[in-house]
Formats: sequence, C-alpha cells, structure tokens
Amino acid sequence: MGMTYFKRFRMELDLERQLPAPQVCPAGYSLAPFDDSLIREHAQAKYLSFRHELDVTVFPCLGRRDGCLRLMREIAARSGFVPEATWLLRYQPAPGVRPEPIGTVQGIQFDGWGGIQNLGVCDQHRGKRLGTLLLTMAARGFHRIGLTHMHLEVTTDNTAAVRLYERLGFRRAKVIYKAAEVALATASR
Ligand SMILES: CC(C)(COP(=O)(O)OP(=O)(O)OC[C@H]1O[C@@H](n2cnc3c(N)ncnc32)[C@H](O)[C@@H]1OP(=O)(O)O)[C@@H](O)C(=O)NCCC(=O)NCCS
Repeated sequence: MGMTYFKRFRMELDLERQLPAPQVCPAGYSLAPFDDSLIREHAQAKYLSFRHELDVTVFPCLGRRDGCLRLMREIAARSGFVPEATWLLRYQPAPGVRPEPIGTVQGIQFDGWGGIQNLGVCDQHRGKRLGTLLLTMAARGFHRIGLTHMHLEVTTDNTAAVRLYERLGFRRAKVIYKAAEVALATASR
C-alpha cells in the first residue's frame, strides 16, 4: 500500500440567491423524506451508487454494504443531522412490484452551513437528472430550516458530479487534498 492525495473541490451554493427550482420526479420514481425506518434503504442505495466509484479509494467504507450501513447510522445520529435535507429515491419497475432504493442524499449542518454528506444514484439510473432532483430536494430542505448557504466536497476527477453541481450554481471555493492509502499500482494518480 502507498499513500496518495486526492484533489477535491469544496463547492458552495448561496441558498438565498440560487435556490434550485423544484424539480418534477419522473414517472416510476418516488421520493421519501427521511425516517429512521429508512436507514437500511439509504445504506443500500449508497452502496449500490458508490461501490465501483473513485470515492471508494478515498472513503473505503463506501465500497462495503456494512460500511455504508454503519456510515448511514452514524450520519443520522449526529447532532447536526438535517432530516429535511435527507432524501431517499426509489424506483418501481412495474405496478405491484416492490419499489427499490436507487438514490440517496444526506444533509448535516455545522457552523450555520448545510453540508452534503453523500449524493448517489445507482449507475443504471444515471443521466436522467435524478442526481439533480436529490440535490435540489436537499438544498430546499436546508433553506426551509433557515440556512442560507450549503457546501459539499467532490473529487476533481468526478466530472459528472462537478458538472451537475456547476449547473445548479455551485462555485469552486477551495481545493483540498485528501490523503488515502491505495494499492501501489494506482498510487501514482
Ligand atoms: C454524481 C451522480 C449522483 C449524478 O447522478 P445523475 O442522476 O446521473 O445526475 P444528473 O443526471 O442530474 O446529472 C449528471 C450530469 O453529469 C453528466 N455526465 C454524466 N456522465 C458524465 C461524464 N462521464 N463526463 C461528464 N459529464 C457526465 C450528465 O450529462 C449530466 O449533466 P447534464 O444534465 O448537464 O448533461 C452519479 O453519477 C453518482 O451517483 N455517482 C457516483 C457517486 C458519486 O460520485 N457521487 C458524488 C460524490 S461528490
């Protein structure tokens, strides 16, 4: 194993001036506001969204089912947890079929800022603006409880995510280097 540094942006959005407009949830999909009974579904959506992604190198727990469940429980138990900014997205392939969790976003607040923990949409459902929908719901949830700014961190190579955030009005506020242990063959990034 070797140590490498991942370049990440801190991105920020002014919720007073750039609150994203409400989005329509496409047919077949449904949004669920946070409830403790949904923690397992959030964890499943998180695992399915992140397991093959770059962020697993930076945050290995995202690549494991049990790691995602632990993380989700830990986020929901934090004093700054914001249920209003935490949403689950489900997909129902056909009437009568049990809806499956395919997307998640979670919010916390700290020092008057809303912070996104993890935004994820399972790979089969990407490119339909569902990530935009989840992030919009989170932004509006932060605004509803009186927060005026929100932020998130994203690995700079995560082009799809950066594109989504910039389309919604987020600006790159700072570059952060996050240390992570990686297998030596990939340690040269
Ligand atoms: C980031 C993520 C949530 C986006 O979900 P999504 O439902 O596809 O999001 P949207 O459809 O709303 O927007 C994605 C944008 O990225 C673009 N995009 C997709 N793949 C891309 C790529 N390889 N390169 C550049 N842009 C890309 C899409 O075209 C879209 O932009 P547009 O609508 O302006 O054309 C999803 O890719 C994901 O879960 N990734 C893995 C987890 C992750 O990295 N989360 C973010 C952590 S900060």
